[in-house]
Amino acid sequence: MENKVFDESRQGEAIELSNIKDEGKKLYLESYGCQMNFSDSEVVASIMANEGFSTTRNIEEADVILLNTCSIRENAEIRVRNRLSDFRKKKDEHPELVIGILGCMAERLKKSLLEEEKLVDLVAGPDAYRDLPNLIDEVGTGQKAVNVLLSRDETYADISPVRLDQGGVSAFVTITRGCDNMCSFCVVPFTRGRERSRDPETILTECKDLYEKGYREVTLLGQNVDSYRWNITSKGEIKDGTKPTTNFSQLMEKVAQVSPQLRVRFSTSHPKDMTDEVLEVIAKYQNICPYIHLPVQSGNTNVLYRMNRGYSREWYLGRIDAIKRIIPDCAISTDIITGFCGETEEEHQDTLSLMERVEFDFAYMFKYSERPKTLAERKFKDDVPDELKGKRLNEIIDKQLGHSLKSHQRQIGTIQKVLVEGPSKRSENFFCGRNDRNSMVVFPKEKAKKGSYVLVRIEECTSATLLGKVQEYL
Ligand code: SAH
Ligand code: SF4
Ligand code: F3S
Repeated sequence: MENKVFDESRQGEAIELSNIKDEGKKLYLESYGCQMNFSDSEVVASIMANEGFSTTRNIEEADVILLNTCSIRENAEIRVRNRLSDFRKKKDEHPELVIGILGCMAERLKKSLLEEEKLVDLVAGPDAYRDLPNLIDEVGTGQKAVNVLLSRDETYADISPVRLDQGGVSAFVTITRGCDNMCSFCVVPFTRGRERSRDPETILTECKDLYEKGYREVTLLGQNVDSYRWNITSKGEIKDGTKPTTNFSQLMEKVAQVSPQLRVRFSTSHPKDMTDEVLEVIAKYQNICPYIHLPVQSGNTNVLYRMNRGYSREWYLGRIDAIKRIIPDCAISTDIITGFCGETEEEHQDTLSLMERVEFDFAYMFKYSERPKTLAERKFKDDVPDELKGKRLNEIIDKQLGHSLKSHQRQIGTIQKVLVEGPSKRSENFFCGRNDRNSMVVFPKEKAKKGSYVLVRIEECTSATLLGKVQEYL
C-alpha cells in the first residue's frame, strides 16, 4: 500500500508545467518532505508563473533554482545540503544563477543558512511565498534575500495552485497550515507556525474546479485535519467565539457532495482528535475512501506521555475499535518512531504488541532523530544507541511487512474499484491505480483509460502491490 505522505520516490522530484509558454525566465523547482511541501510547490509555481517564469525539468537552462525543503529528521536536511553541493560548479560558471531555499529548513535555519551555505542567495519560509518575486528582485541587485516571517492567517486561499502532476487525476488540497500540538520530538510547529484553517468556500471552489478539469481524486491535507475549524466570516469577523461553523466532518461531507465520481481522501488524522462524527461521515459516503492514516508513534503510554502526544495506548486502541465498528473493512496505516528518549526494551515490546493487535495495512517507520529546539531536545537525553535503534527498527519493519502482505493476501479473489492513474512503472502494457483502501493495483492495460474507474479482480500480490485483471470498465 502506498501513502504519499513520505513517498521516497518523490523526494527531490523536479517539476515542469506543460501548460506554460516556453519563453521568458526559467525556474527549476525541486521538492522534499511531506505532501504539504509538494502542495506548497504548486502555490510557488503559480506565484512564479504570474511573474512570467516557466518551470523546467532541465536544470541546465534554469535562471532560478528553488529547493522546497524538509527538516523533520536530520537525514532530510543532509539530503538537501548534499544536493546543494551539486550546484557549486554551476554557480561558479554562472554567478547570476539564483539559488533559493524554501520550506521548513529555510524557516528553521533562517539567516544562518546563508552563512553556512555560501552559494544560497535566497531563503523563504513557508508563509513568505507571496514575497518571492520581490526577494528574487532583491537578489538581482546583488544582495542576499531572506523572508522567514510566519503568519497567523496566511493560507494562500486565493491562489489557485498550478497542478504539477501530468496525470491530472489526483490532487492535493491544503485545508489547514501549521500545527499547535507541540509533540516533543517534532520540529513542525517551529517551521510551519500556528495552526490556521482555510476558508471552506475556497476549498470547495478548488475541488469543484479540479473535478471539472477531469480530476477524480482529492486529498485534503493538514498536519492534523481533525482540528480543522472555520468560524470566521468572509470579512474576517469571528461569528461566534466558541462554536465552530464548519468542522472537519462537515467540510469533508461538503467535498464528498461535489460529485459521487470524485474520490475524497484526507491526511493526517490525529488519534486525540479524531471523532466518531468523522468516522460516520466516511461510512456514509461511498466516495470517501475507507482509509485512515492514524500515526501512533509508540505503543507504550509512558513513551506517548514523553512524546506529548495527548493520548494513551488504550485511547489509541479505542479509536481503532471505533474505526472497525463504524467502517468495517477500513484500511489503517500509521507512523512509528523507534528509539525515542529513554525507550526501554519493554516499551519497545509494547509497540510490537500494539502492531500485533491492530495489524496495520501499511506503516512509515523511523528511527528517532533529535531536532534542535524541540521539547525533547531540551528535556530528555537522546540515549538509545543508534545500533539499538536500528535493531528495533528492523524488528518493527519485519513485523509490518508480514502484516502488509497479509492485508494484501486477504484481497486476493475480491473485486476492487480502481481509479486508473496511468502506465505502471514496470511496463507500458500494464496500467496502475489505487483501490479505495489505497493499495496500488497493477493490471494489463487493455482498454483502460487514465482518470476512469475500473473493476479489477485481484489474482496475486506482494506486500507492496496487488495484481489482477479488469472485469469491468465503469
Ligand atoms: N502531523 C502528523 C505527522 C507529521 S510528521 C502527525 O502528527 O501524525 C510525519 C512523521 O514523521 C511523524 O508522524 C513521525 O512519525 C515522524 N517524525 C516526526 N519527527 C520525527 C523525529 N524527530 N524523528 C523521527 N521521526 C519523526
Ligand atoms: Fe508534529 Fe505532532 Fe504537529 Fe504532527 S501533530 S506535526 S507530529 S507537532
Ligand atoms: Fe513537511 Fe518536513 Fe516540513 S514533513 S511540514 S516538509 S519538516
